[in-house]
Amino acid sequence: MSRKPFIVGNWKMNKNPEEAKAFVEAVVSKLPSSELVEVGIAVPALVLSTVLAAAKGSNLKVAAENCYFENAGAFTGENSPKVLSEMGTDYVVIGHSERREYFHETDEDINKKAKAIFANGMLPIICCGETLETYEAGKAAEFVGGQVSAALAGLSEEQVSSLVIAYEPIWAIGTGKSASQDDAQKMCKVVRDTVAADFGQAVADKVRVQYGGSVKPENIAAYMACPDVDGALVGGASLQPESFLALLDFVK
Ligand code: PGA
Repeated sequence: MSRKPFIVGNWKMNKNPEEAKAFVEAVVSKLPSSELVEVGIAVPALVLSTVLAAAKGSNLKVAAENCYFENAGAFTGENSPKVLSEMGTDYVVIGHSERREYFHETDEDINKKAKAIFANGMLPIICCGETLETYEAGKAAEFVGGQVSAALAGLSEEQVSSLVIAYEPIWAIGTGKSASQDDAQKMCKVVRDTVAADFGQAVADKVRVQYGGSVKPENIAAYMACPDVDGALVGGASLQPESFLALLDFVK
């Protein structure tokens, strides 16, 4: 049961096409071997075609930051998973806490999006994570377990084995206040145990679980040393090529 580390930068709503192209050109030839680590960036839809073109033929995986759960139709302003797939997108991040909080995405939406992403031959990176209030009330495990079960409902064992779940405590996102190594391990294990309860241990042994929330070059190795942390979803520290590449130094 060996899970390859998977490090993904999440650009959020940053970078125009020129900046995006310059970033990709600065990093693609410097990535560690894909035997050691899988590396990706989640980018805004507006720069996706630029990034896909610049990353073509490299080991850099490209993710969209969101999509809708229908392929086409009268859904003004939404992004089609079918078109994302046709463009060559590998992954789609869904259920990020910013989407849940500011755009009112529900567990049910996220579940439908996960199914639409698989139906179009891509893989979802499903985010979960609790608020500070829930954390302080000692209810993080129960809350996150519920989010995971709801997001995965109705997926097949094969699908769940191949997807990625990013545990990101909301109080650690963009705050500089990262979770302790113990908390990250404990909660990533909660995610894996939830998958085991719903789909069996063999599936749980394969699913990749990332930690996210103020991950930086200085703290990533500690998280990656945790048995249930298989990777990281990184916002702020993924925006500059030097810092993004430094996140990958832990494999050396
Ligand atoms: P951060 O963001 O690394 O800037 O805390 C993580 C995320 O939101 O995915």
